Amino acid sequence: MRALMCEAHGLPETLVMRDRPSPQPGPGAIRMRVKAASVNFPDSLIIRDLYQTKPPLPFSPGSEAAGIVDAVGEGVTQFRPGDRIAAMTTWGAFAEEVMVDAGRCFAIPDDMPFDVASGFTMVYGTALHALRQRGRLQPGETLLVLGAAGGVGLAAIEVGKQMGARVIAAASSAEKLALAQAHGADVLIDYGQDDLKSALRSATDGRGVDVIFDPVGGALADPAFRAMAWDGRYLVIGFAAGDIPALPLNLPLVKGAAIIGVFWGAFLTREPAANADNVATLYDWYRAGHLRPEISHRFALDEAAAAIRWVMDRKAMGKVVVEID
Ligand SMILES: NC(=O)c1ccc[n+]([C@@H]2O[C@H](COP(=O)([O-])OP(=O)(O)OC[C@H]3O[C@@H](n4cnc5c(N)ncnc54)[C@H](OP(=O)(O)O)[C@@H]3O)[C@@H](O)[C@H]2O)c1
Repeated sequence: MRALMCEAHGLPETLVMRDRPSPQPGPGAIRMRVKAASVNFPDSLIIRDLYQTKPPLPFSPGSEAAGIVDAVGEGVTQFRPGDRIAAMTTWGAFAEEVMVDAGRCFAIPDDMPFDVASGFTMVYGTALHALRQRGRLQPGETLLVLGAAGGVGLAAIEVGKQMGARVIAAASSAEKLALAQAHGADVLIDYGQDDLKSALRSATDGRGVDVIFDPVGGALADPAFRAMAWDGRYLVIGFAAGDIPALPLNLPLVKGAAIIGVFWGAFLTREPAANADNVATLYDWYRAGHLRPEISHRFALDEAAAAIRWVMDRKAMGKVVVEID
């Protein structure tokens, strides 16, 4: 089977296509025939040895995919060959076949195409876990989504609207904000042009924002936090800007506010029943037409390195998908 391989840590241009042996699923594992895989920001980190998970070289990148169960290992009872699934692989998905623990797979709705399924569960799963379990977002509250046209950002807008929030989308260009608006954002802020803190103050009549969903980090965290309402919740999702912000601790004190970490991958492993409940909710919302996953760009497997480069270069809007079959 063909796979994109990382043989030495480096930029996407150092990745190579190789023929690899078919993986044999061990106990508790599944071999999936990959139909589509989506790019997630950590794919650009893992190939440079900048991610918290460090697979031994050589490995194939690709953290999420959808396809058909091909073979199951000993003890796997919840899936059988032929089932349509989404798989959270962490790495290995930019390949024709991947092996993954059955506990990291989900049976997808019959009407969800593989390209959509390959980029659905991680971004919407992160958004719902962040806003439900971690942020305790309430109907009528104001939610700020930074990096609002990115993968998790766009998902957070839709999930926030489903939970009854007023959603402020903030992003770096008019084109990205137009997409955020098309996915339900009520208020748009261009942080490429406008001062974020004062734009947030005027968008909330000086009251401030109740919940902040931040997958970007860097220089945005300080002005965003300073525009937080009393009892606000700042959700730390990721650091796509590259820099991990450091906030002065007097800020949460004077606002009675909380800084809350979100780690969906660990939630999936540590609290599988609660995560399964979230995923069931998301699939129900999808079936009802309340979620409208966006695929902005598609690449073939031979071009998967360029797909990672596309996301690294800040060009992604919604999801970037590698179509494999
Ligand atoms: N905590 C969790 O459980 C969890 C789960 C999934 C993802 N994440 C994290 O969430 C973050 C976003 O992931 P994603 O897959 O949604 O990525 P994405 O689609 O690339 O979106 C990231 C957004 O960040 C903004 N950005 C600012 N500076 C950037 C830069 N130098 N390079 C790239 N983007 C930059 C961009 O928006 P603008 O151009 O509008 O600024 C972009 O749309 C990543 O850090 C990822 O690790 C965390």
